Amino acid sequence: MTLTADVVVLGAGAAGLMCAATAGYQGQRVLLLDHTDKPGKKILMSGGGRCNFTNLNTTPANYLSANPHFCISALKRYTPQHFVELVERHGVDYVEKAPGQLFCSNSSKDILQVLLTEAEWAGIDLRMKTAIQQVTTTADGVCLHTSLGKVEAGALVIATGGLSIPTMGATGFGYDLARQFGLDVLPTRAGLVPFTLHPELKNSLAPLSGLSTEVAVSCRGKTFREPLLITHRGLSGPAMLQISSYWQPGDNLLINWLPTLDVVNQLKTLRQQQPRSTLAGWLQEHLPKRLASTLLTLLQEQGTSLPERLADLSNQQIENLAEQLHQWPIKPAGTEGYRTAEVTLGGVDTRNISSQNFAVQGLEQIRFIGEVLDVTGQLGGFNFQWAWASGFACGQGL
Ligand code: FDA
Repeated sequence: MTLTADVVVLGAGAAGLMCAATAGYQGQRVLLLDHTDKPGKKILMSGGGRCNFTNLNTTPANYLSANPHFCISALKRYTPQHFVELVERHGVDYVEKAPGQLFCSNSSKDILQVLLTEAEWAGIDLRMKTAIQQVTTTADGVCLHTSLGKVEAGALVIATGGLSIPTMGATGFGYDLARQFGLDVLPTRAGLVPFTLHPELKNSLAPLSGLSTEVAVSCRGKTFREPLLITHRGLSGPAMLQISSYWQPGDNLLINWLPTLDVVNQLKTLRQQQPRSTLAGWLQEHLPKRLASTLLTLLQEQGTSLPERLADLSNQQIENLAEQLHQWPIKPAGTEGYRTAEVTLGGVDTRNISSQNFAVQGLEQIRFIGEVLDVTGQLGGFNFQWAWASGFACGQGL
């Protein structure tokens, strides 16, 4: 049996569902195929189960890409406000947890339900548990060999996402198809991912597992001021996830443990006013106690000798200590990789793809959207906004 459709969308994730519904509303007969048993698995697990579904402050500067202008057009045509209107029309409650970051008040399920309802209203034929064996282009479209049989369509949209979290259905199939159609695939790596540490530092920090403190972390000219979380495997929390997308193996992270404090001025003043106070006591006032003592122990282990009382600190010691606390170098062993990464950096090179309708140059019937492309958002709802915006722009242009 041969199935026919105007458009086949591969991947019932965030971008694929949005694109399918948009194309369906344009009057296209859309077949949406996915190899897993349930659509939108990453939506369900996102934002700690509450889906950070957009960021009101989205700009192209929130995305990493070898072609930074590519995302501009779609982001302009489908803004966070458009998605907020959609969510409100469906009566979903949401909260702004951090500036600009919108989360469901109840559950990520609400966002998936919005998309599934839209897909149903738009008349989408959604088929799960469908394996795609082969894709070929024809004179007037595409032909797919699938576990459903042969499928013929006028256009194919590839929305198969990146490599993160293979247990949720992630595959490199979109990259294989891109190569088949002559596109470059830029090197991929895990992004928004916790760091692992070398055994010595890992063991020193292990007793602090679960502790969180606000830091500023820098690497390769980027700085993020957000909470850092110490885990039994290494370092996580928003600050670490954010910087992981910029970090390359071998790089040091520079951690400012006291981003709001001028350590030199404070210590010099206190040395005069409270000479009998201890250094440990002072640091414990500004950092979680156990972290403060661990940092002082680590400094001593590294050969920094520090007096107990503030009165005995020399100017040079104060300046050195300030530098150490404001720019504490940590060289991660690596990252936890795709197993836990929220996103995949790199991917299908956008330089031969239209930023208007996402068609491959010279192959109008083939389109790529969402995370499979080399466009990766920072933490905070930017990745879903890219999925919605690219899905919408592509769906409209079909
Ligand atoms: P997505 O991965 O959503 O969908 C791809 C679909 O293609 C899947 O359904 C998959 O089964 C299917 N597929 C793959 N290979 C296939 C094949 N060979 N054949 C058929 N189908 C195939 N972002 C954000 O903005 N806010 C947040 O709160 C979070 N939180 C978050 C938490 C966690 C734990 C993760 C892993 C990720 C996030 N993200 C996020 C990132 C966000 O989930 C991600 O960027 C989008 O889901 C990408 O949407 P896509 O539709 O491109 O891919």
